[in-house]
Amino acid sequence: MADHEKAPAAAPPSPADPCVMVIFGASGDLTKRKLFPALYNLAAAGLLPDEFAIVGFASSDFDDAGFEKRISKEIPDFVTGDFDPERWKWFEERIHYLRGDLTEASSYKKLGEVIAKVDKQHSTRGNVLFYLATPPSLFSRVVQHLGEARLTRETRESWRRVVIEKPFGRDLETAQALNAEISQVLAEDQIFRIDHYLGKETVQNIMVFRFANGIFEPIWNRRYIDHVQITVAEELGVEKRAGYYEEAGALRDMVPNHLFQLLSLTAMEPPISFEADAVRNEKSKVLRAIAPMSPEEVLQRTVRGQYGPGTVDQEKVAGYREEPGVDPASATETFVALKLHIDNWRWADVPFYLRTGKRLGKRITEITIQFKRAPFSLFRLTPVERLGPNRLVIRIQPDEGIALHFDAKVPGPAVRIGGVDMDFSYDETFGSAPTTGYETLLYDTMTGDATLFQRDDNVEAGWRVVTPILDVWKALPPRGFPNYASGSWGPAEADELLERDGRSWRNSE
Ligand code: BG6
Repeated sequence: MADHEKAPAAAPPSPADPCVMVIFGASGDLTKRKLFPALYNLAAAGLLPDEFAIVGFASSDFDDAGFEKRISKEIPDFVTGDFDPERWKWFEERIHYLRGDLTEASSYKKLGEVIAKVDKQHSTRGNVLFYLATPPSLFSRVVQHLGEARLTRETRESWRRVVIEKPFGRDLETAQALNAEISQVLAEDQIFRIDHYLGKETVQNIMVFRFANGIFEPIWNRRYIDHVQITVAEELGVEKRAGYYEEAGALRDMVPNHLFQLLSLTAMEPPISFEADAVRNEKSKVLRAIAPMSPEEVLQRTVRGQYGPGTVDQEKVAGYREEPGVDPASATETFVALKLHIDNWRWADVPFYLRTGKRLGKRITEITIQFKRAPFSLFRLTPVERLGPNRLVIRIQPDEGIALHFDAKVPGPAVRIGGVDMDFSYDETFGSAPTTGYETLLYDTMTGDATLFQRDDNVEAGWRVVTPILDVWKALPPRGFPNYASGSWGPAEADELLERDGRSWRNSE
């Protein structure tokens, strides 16, 4: 029996609160790829209450039955495990639809009527979750309309919550403006800003790993840690998202959100509890401790890149500038590497190297904590610089797990030393039930647990670090794009960023 099975079982979670979930942009990709499959998995796990209903809201021409039919047709292709039509039947009578224009006040009046009717029919007690699966340019407008139609008003017995997907702004100023606008209508505890990285089990586990185990925290600081690397490498290119990506680029798309989530969970101080605000306070604090870079520092500590043609997974692929919808002279970066410093007592002088890019050699997201070397070698045949540093590698995806790398004696009469790994694999230990990554997040929105969501100050703290880099990059257009081949590990300058410090990226084979 594995050790985890011996632990006393925690009480299984109970179903979420009764509620109506209104999905804006219900005919879009997110709804069919993620939201419905996640709801299906939640229902299968007994985590949706019987008093539950969905109202799809979009401009496509459906009635309740037509929308339900379309979703029922699509869902078998998008569920993450086996599809059980009997189980899906539970949803059929709970799916409603309203055709409307998101930008027109009259649509919200109608929405109010539909919500009242559906609420009565399904006994959902006045609780409503508004999910904005819409283009970000509409976030603020939809929220204003909801407010004007009095749909966001809570009572003592019922809640109203709004879920927003990234991007939250495109720099510090626009993020602040967006937060200010939506806060005219909603209290902060009604806003759930989703970063889908926080839906990943392995990301949530960073906190458990650090704070449920006594042995790591004492060495989790500048005395023992040499540096930290965070890599989010993708094999995919821009796909069909040129319209969005040309304006965003890798820095905006990945760093202030996903990479900073990984960084803040790795580097934050222990929160005083697992309550949403206790955790979010610590995340904000650590991001605020990253000093924004001066223009000179931007030039020294950041690298941007754009993929050219190459080979990924043994297939020839086009360069970014040849992708559909991309400007043939595009200056948009598809790769970024940064060296950051966290100016606090725990991390002073410990560099955090971050990189992310599209069309890299391998899809891998991992955090490497590299410890300082042994100070002195007793072993004649292995001088100290040949002793490998200890490394803790937290593999976020794929092949989820944690490995500790250390040196061991190679068997034989002479003392020879070689590197070995102690490796924990999620799949081998717990088995894997594939999920969309949205299950926990959706469940938490329905139970009101905001721990895994970004508070306004978390978002702004991220943009505060990134905006000075965007400004310098804008003022100095890149030279030499494309500067890395698809299928490589990014531009040579990204390697040089570490080599200058006598270090190197850990590139998994
Ligand atoms: C999204 C970005 O937020 O995250 C995409 O917009 C990126 O460009 C994606 O591909 C990566 O997510 P994951 O879960 O595949 O690592």
